Amino acid sequence: MNSIIVAVDGPVASGKGTLGRRLAERFGFAYLDTGGLYRAVALRMLRGKHALDDVGILVAQAKALEPSDLADPALRDEKTGEAASIVAPVPELRAALLEYQREFASAPPYDAPGAVLDGRDIGTVVCPNASVKLFVTASAEARAQRRFAELTAKGEDVELATVLEDLAKRDARDSGRASSPLVPAQDAHLLDTTKMDIEAAFQAAEAIVAASMKSS
Ligand code: C5P
Repeated sequence: MNSIIVAVDGPVASGKGTLGRRLAERFGFAYLDTGGLYRAVALRMLRGKHALDDVGILVAQAKALEPSDLADPALRDEKTGEAASIVAPVPELRAALLEYQREFASAPPYDAPGAVLDGRDIGTVVCPNASVKLFVTASAEARAQRRFAELTAKGEDVELATVLEDLAKRDARDSGRASSPLVPAQDAHLLDTTKMDIEAAFQAAEAIVAASMKSS
């Protein structure tokens, strides 16, 4: 039986990670946060003090990734996310991470009947034949507010205006790059969460996935 693949794409702080994780739990699917792969490579580059544009080292670090890299708490740091969005446009790095993502989707761990992958290019490049595709968005202001609340809850001393500025930079980099830019797949369901809390967004996403599973 083919694995059911749910692709969840969207910009930074759109809520796609929380939605992806909860959808996976709800349907008993495996979950992969593909941003974590780019973050893990970026963190290795930062720790090794390598230049972020050294393609050879980027590819070597991608090939050397281990499960423990993906559990590192420093993955969530702002500077890791920033570095991830700087290395992510490199086509050779994207190619080096592609096979792992496709393998996870088609043969999910623990024999799960399906997989949820969240990222930027899951519905367009990694799994263009996904069973269901969601593109999660929210206004830049709403996303900045959420990120600001998250960071201040972690005790970080940040200003809302700076968070909004950083987010705009990340958006521009992710959407403007030549290789696998952040764009909704033509057959993606758009979910704008600007005016929704996470519970309402989850219910909307769950309904879309359940309906697609019924009709397939
Ligand atoms: O989703 P997250 O913020 O963790 O992703 C970090 C960065 O990794 C993004 O800004 C983006 O540049 C990159 N990324 C990507 N393709 C993916 C997932 C993440 O280019 N599928």
